Amino acid sequence: MFRVFAPGVVKLFGEHAVVYGRPAIAAAVNKGIEVLCEKSDKTIVRTGKAYVDLEYIHDVGTALARGHERFLSYAISALKIAESSFGVLKASFEIKSDFPPSIGAATSASVSVGLLKAYAACLGIEIAPEELAKLAHKVELEVQGAASPMDTAVSAIGGVLRIETNPFRYRRVNSSINDFILALLPRRGLTKDIVADVKALKARRRSVDAIMDAIGRVVDEAESCLESGDLVCVGELMEINNWLLGALGVVGYDVITMLRYLKPYIYGGKISGAGRGGVVVLLPRRKEELKEVLLATDVPFVEVKVEAAGARAI
Ligand code: MEV
Repeated sequence: MFRVFAPGVVKLFGEHAVVYGRPAIAAAVNKGIEVLCEKSDKTIVRTGKAYVDLEYIHDVGTALARGHERFLSYAISALKIAESSFGVLKASFEIKSDFPPSIGAATSASVSVGLLKAYAACLGIEIAPEELAKLAHKVELEVQGAASPMDTAVSAIGGVLRIETNPFRYRRVNSSINDFILALLPRRGLTKDIVADVKALKARRRSVDAIMDAIGRVVDEAESCLESGDLVCVGELMEINNWLLGALGVVGYDVITMLRYLKPYIYGGKISGAGRGGVVVLLPRRKEELKEVLLATDVPFVEVKVEAAGARAI
């Protein structure tokens, strides 16, 4: 039996603009996906909370499946890509997630990274983090049509990374700010559709390029504030980034209202990921009171810490 942990990914700065060549900063966290793999006479994927239950038929490269359709597409695509990269493996996989799917905590990226890593481990193959990131990005591209390499790279490599695309490159941000709270709001729409809406807006209105540039500048400034541990600066830039994302039409009133009433307890906050609900990342100022307020207002939340390592056997 092999066990792999693939961290979830919190987008600290720069989502959406990263799709258009601007930099972004994202962090791997200590909550994510665990994948168990055991050789068997057929390939089965199961998940704890009944999201999927599938049998992969190797000869025809297809699957008999029940469950959460989006989650299934990532699992099937990851199995296909693993098979063509590492060879045939018949095994039973169990996926356990710390997050509900499709909330914007990069569960799809972590599932892709975790399944590929577990598949390789079950075959006794050691895979380098950069190679793992590349294969997992292929899964995201196959399922979503468009995706930046940010989420898969951060889950595979770990730490706080500054990501740039075209060509893909990254560097570690030596952040001393490592504690966040993720508020989990109901999500309206899928990443793929929200990314498509932003693309359409950008095509209609050339001023949107200026918003993308401004987000890129926030990322540059945030990098040095993260490195110097300047909580006030990071919080303020999170808020600025959030308003810029609002101008792209991906931040709803639910998020704005919540950030407003949480203001005394946080340095700042913003959506994390595609938006329209989903994960809101909060930088706590008065953490215990913040948790009490979230509990009292029935907002589900998860406390996370930055995880220096990427996907690995545990
Ligand atoms: C999704 O987690 C982040 C987006 O920037 C899309 C992407 O980078 O592929 C919205």
